[in-house]
Amino acid sequence: MQTKELTLKPVTPYCGAYVENIDLAESLDDETVEALTSALAEHCVLFFRDQEMSPAQQKDLGQRFGELHLHPAWPRLVEGHPEVMEIYADENSRIIAGEDWHSDVSCDREPPLGTILYMLEVPPVGGDTLFANMYAAFDSLSDRMQRFLEGLTAVHDGEPFYRGRYDGAKEEGKVYPRSEHPVVRTHPISGRKLLFVNRIFTTRIVELEKDESDAILRMLFDHIQQPEFQCRFQWDVGSVAFWDNRCAQHHAMWDYYPNRRRGLRVTIKGDAPFYRPE
Ligand code: SIN
Repeated sequence: MQTKELTLKPVTPYCGAYVENIDLAESLDDETVEALTSALAEHCVLFFRDQEMSPAQQKDLGQRFGELHLHPAWPRLVEGHPEVMEIYADENSRIIAGEDWHSDVSCDREPPLGTILYMLEVPPVGGDTLFANMYAAFDSLSDRMQRFLEGLTAVHDGEPFYRGRYDGAKEEGKVYPRSEHPVVRTHPISGRKLLFVNRIFTTRIVELEKDESDAILRMLFDHIQQPEFQCRFQWDVGSVAFWDNRCAQHHAMWDYYPNRRRGLRVTIKGDAPFYRPE
């Protein structure tokens, strides 16, 4: 068991913190898990350098924060470890995971709490991941816009994104996750409000006419990508990013083709999003 004082170094005022003085392959004690849980809810994403973990150790790490999630469509899983997704691209790749702003699998009724990505191979340059703070995205809207959005509900649909993309035509007839979630969500740990719509999965605001919904979503998707809310992580072999999938969105850069990038990802199950007015 590992009990150590964590050193946290914020990356930007709004997003991300480096955690030093920790070995993620060791089993973490309750105090450390508690400290990481609250740091995650505050900084949205935590970064760790120079780690070394087997898939089993990565699963153990994830399980300290909750039950592990099984992805509804991702085809590359580590043999013997269906909870471990291989994130991979090389000169033969036609798509990569997460190449636009999103929150992982937000189409699930209970979208993941968080994701832990451990990098094993990096391209000579490029392949960074961008993260953005959704509390800051909400806080920076005008009071009138905040009040307008609070209490609205949006559809998050997996089908338009997943069908034929990851699993191909063989999955004809497959049913993909589709859920409705509050547009403004309350974070269960921090109690703060945040914007919970994203380009990959959010297709419609339920209470609005289609044209109105399209216009508001377009405005919110643009708003969310402001650089002030972001940080950018340059991976090394052995780097780990642990993002809070409730208050962070992320975007993987694919600027390294035809080079190779490879990592392993475990995802932790979350709760149904809720909105709690003050
Ligand atoms: C993802 O899980 O969305 C991919 C992130 C990355 O490859 O950086």
